[in-house]
Order: sequence, then structure tokens, then C-alpha cells
Amino acid sequence: MKKISVNSNFTIFDNIDDLPIEVKDLVEKAKKIRLTAYSKYSNFSVGVSVLLENGQTINGSNQENAAYPSGLCAERTALFYANSKYPDSKIVCLAIVAGSMSKINETPIAPCGGCRQVISEFETKQASPIGIYFMGEKGRIVYSNSIINLLPFKFDSSFL
Ligand code: THU
Repeated sequence: MKKISVNSNFTIFDNIDDLPIEVKDLVEKAKKIRLTAYSKYSNFSVGVSVLLENGQTINGSNQENAAYPSGLCAERTALFYANSKYPDSKIVCLAIVAGSMSKINETPIAPCGGCRQVISEFETKQASPIGIYFMGEKGRIVYSNSIINLLPFKFDSSFL
């Protein structure tokens, strides 16, 4: 028997103004698209903006449904559209802004497990890391330079 430890690395930006200008722009886009969320059941709205290597940005918000599991997270809405529209352009990074519409949350909110798996799939597909920035409605921003920090022991196609 032996014990191992797995390290994850993150960078914390105290304020949106501390971000590189192109990332600040991406976060602003995520904030804006968050307001389009169709989240009448949870009242929890998420906005995501994806920056592609070709310079395009693709935005998405969470889309809920009366049949709850039929809804889709903002990350997947945006990533699936990005890969449908520009399947040959790599994903550089994405910005996630999330929070309940009934209270102001300043704690950074990380993507759910299912979305981590989808981000991981696209990292594998493009064979290069995807930067992930996430935050609450306001406050500090957490940056990870790859999904691996959020999804150690990932499952990928090499196991199939
Ligand atoms: N949601 C996202 O859009 N992304 C996540 O990573 C976590 C959860 C959405 C799904 C649902 O519409 C609402 O937030 C509450 O779970």
C-alpha cells in the first residue's frame, strides 16, 4: 500500500481589472450572456464565453426544462455550439460567471462534474490545454490552465 497526493494549481485574481484585457473582455461577455439564461426552475443563472484560436467568441447560458434532466448547463451549451460552428478551431479558454438570481454570491463557482468531463473531452480532442476562469456574480476570479486541475483521474477515449 502506498499513499499518493495529487496537486492542483490555480491562480486567483482579486478583481476583474487584474485580468489580461482579452480575458476581462471574455468575462464581460459571460456576464452579459448570463442574463439570457432560461433558468426559471432553479433561478440559478450561468453565462459562459468561449475564446477560440481563430479569434471568435461563442457565448452560452444554461437552458432549463420542465422535465429537469432535459436542461443543459451553460458550459455545454457554449462548448457544443463552438464545436459545431468551428470544429477545426482550438479552444483557448472559457470564462464562467454563475450565481443565484435571488442573492449576490461573491464566491467563485466551479463548473459541475458533467461540464468538467466535456471540457476534458475537448482538451483530448485538440491535444492542448483549455484555460478556465470562473467566478460568482462579482468578486474574485479563479483561473486553471487546464481541466486536469479540476478533474484529476480523468476518463478519456484511451480507455475505450
Ligand atoms: N449549471 C450550469 O449551467 N453550469 C454548471 O456548471 C452548474 C449548473 C446550471 C444547470 C441548472 O440550470 C442550474 O445551473 C442549477 O443547477
